[in-house]
Amino acid sequence: MSLTILGIESSCDDTAAAILRGTGDDVAILSNVVSSQTDLHAAFGGVVPELAARAHAETLDLVVEEAIAAANCTLHDVDAIAVTAGPGLIGGVLSGVMAAKGLAMGLGKPLIGVNHLAGHALTPRLTDGLAFPYLLLLVSGGHCQFLRVEGPETFTRLGGTIDDAPGEAFDKVARLLGLPQPGGPSVEAAAKMGDASRFKLPRPLLDREGCDLSFSGLKTAVLRLRDTLVAENGGLTEQDRADICASFQATVAHVLAEKSRRALALGDMTAFAVAGGVAANQTLRAALEAVTELPFAAPPLALCTDNAAMIAYAGLLAFERGRVDGMDLVARPRWPL
Ligand code: KG4
Ligand code: ZN
Repeated sequence: MSLTILGIESSCDDTAAAILRGTGDDVAILSNVVSSQTDLHAAFGGVVPELAARAHAETLDLVVEEAIAAANCTLHDVDAIAVTAGPGLIGGVLSGVMAAKGLAMGLGKPLIGVNHLAGHALTPRLTDGLAFPYLLLLVSGGHCQFLRVEGPETFTRLGGTIDDAPGEAFDKVARLLGLPQPGGPSVEAAAKMGDASRFKLPRPLLDREGCDLSFSGLKTAVLRLRDTLVAENGGLTEQDRADICASFQATVAHVLAEKSRRALALGDMTAFAVAGGVAANQTLRAALEAVTELPFAAPPLALCTDNAAMIAYAGLLAFERGRVDGMDLVARPRWPL
């Protein structure tokens, strides 16, 4: 049966709403609205949780209205409301959950709490129709893990970072080099003019078995490299910056590709997919695609970074299985898959 689902996402610094219509196997994104808070946090060099929560609360209604209008429907056409219930910055998650509860109660529609990570993990099924089980590498500002996606609500974690997420490392490297936030796109742009072979950075955990990853040592290595160059030359040239970015990016891509090979060797996967904000990186995508003969899926950029279409889709799959939540749905800052 075709369903119309409203999705709401507010777990970090994007306020998002989307309308999906269809079934788990055949669905259309009718609208996908994202209101970014990047400008709001720009001066602080990172997301300020209190500012984010207030901005979500102020923006949610407008974003939902916009998603409804762009989908050419009304709130009454919606069959269920799916909302990110965690993990994330608790103020933001709470804003979303309260808005969703208000709508569900006011309209008399079912409410479905969705794990943000499940949203990312299921996106390649939404965009590319992947069959279960597939390997997902989730790489974002807050997360880094290999998941075996076995069903709409069944995930096995095969490994992940033991410290920072790669997006955090990209953001930190950008800060160290005086490049704008979010760091991923700035580092990628600078790396285009850089020579990845000029500096050799450590490749953390490559010598250790399994699929675990680490990025904090790499960050420190970039800090040391910067300080050495500044001490020797009195500052950094544009070329130094570009070369550091290129080396850093190539190292991250190399390590993620190598660990992906190991995760795939665990076997029985139909495809390999990558999701999360860092999956926007073209060098990384190319390195990952070269790892396997299996079909490779990298969702379009707008669906790789935080969005509500992925939440609506995860909600649709859960709803098809008969799962709904009550008004006692809680917002969870931590919620491992
Ligand atoms: O998934 P996402 O939008 O938010 C969560 O963390 O859940 O990911 C944001 C992260 C940021 O750290 C940003 O710097 C990184 O994704 N990112 C990138 C690129 N675009 C965004 N990292 C590397 N290369 C990019 N092109
Ligand atoms: Zn995310």
